[in-house]
Amino acid sequence: MQKYEEFISEILIPQERLQQRIKELGEEISRDFANESVLLICILRGGVMFLTDLMRQISIPTAIEFMAVSSYGVGRRSTSGDVRITLDLNTSIEDRNVILVEDIIDSGHTIHSVLEMLSVRRPKTLSICALLDKAERREVDVPVRYCGFTIPNKFVFGYGLDIDDYYRNLPFIGVVDLDKYQPEVKS
Ligand code: IMP
Ligand code: MG
Repeated sequence: MQKYEEFISEILIPQERLQQRIKELGEEISRDFANESVLLICILRGGVMFLTDLMRQISIPTAIEFMAVSSYGVGRRSTSGDVRITLDLNTSIEDRNVILVEDIIDSGHTIHSVLEMLSVRRPKTLSICALLDKAERREVDVPVRYCGFTIPNKFVFGYGLDIDDYYRNLPFIGVVDLDKYQPEVKS
C-alpha cells in the first residue's frame, strides 16, 4: 500500500485552516439555533472526523446520530440518484432541528436523496452542513446552509475522505495525483 506522500499533488486545505473554519461553522450554528437544540446526523463514513470536530465547537445542547447510505453508482463517483439507507437512525427526528453533516457534496445526488428520505419524517428544520462543496460538478440542486469550503473539481482525500477506503485519518485535505496513485490489486 502506498504512503500518501507518493501520490499527493498538493495540500489543498491544511489542518489549521480546517479547524479555524469549523470553529466558525460551530459558532454560526450555535447562533442560528440559540435557545434551541440540534441533532447532528453524520453520514458515515466520510463525515466522521468533521462531526467530532464540529460538535466540539457548538455551544447549544447537541445530540448526534449516524446513518449510512450507499449508491449504486460504480467507481469513485455516485452517478445516479439511486441511493439507499444501509444504516438507519435509532431515533425519531420528528419536530427536531436536524443538521446533516457531510464530508463533501459532489453531484449532489447522495445528499439530495437523504434529504428526501428524512423530510417525510417531519423534522422541525432540516439543513445541510458540508465541509466541502465541489460546486461546479453539481447535477441536482441542494440547499447547503453551512459550507466549509468551495473547492475545485479535483479528487481530494484526508480528513474523513477516502481513496478506496484508506487515508481518511489524515488531518488535512490533499489532492490526489491520479498518475501517481496505484490502486491495490485485489486477488
Ligand atoms: P455525490 O452524490 O456525487 O454528491 O457524492 C458524494 C459522495 O461522493 C461523498 O459523500 C464522498 O463519499 C464521495 N466523493 C465525492 N468526491 C470525492 C472526493 O474528491 N474524494 C473522496 N470522496 C469523494
Ligand atoms: Mg466515500
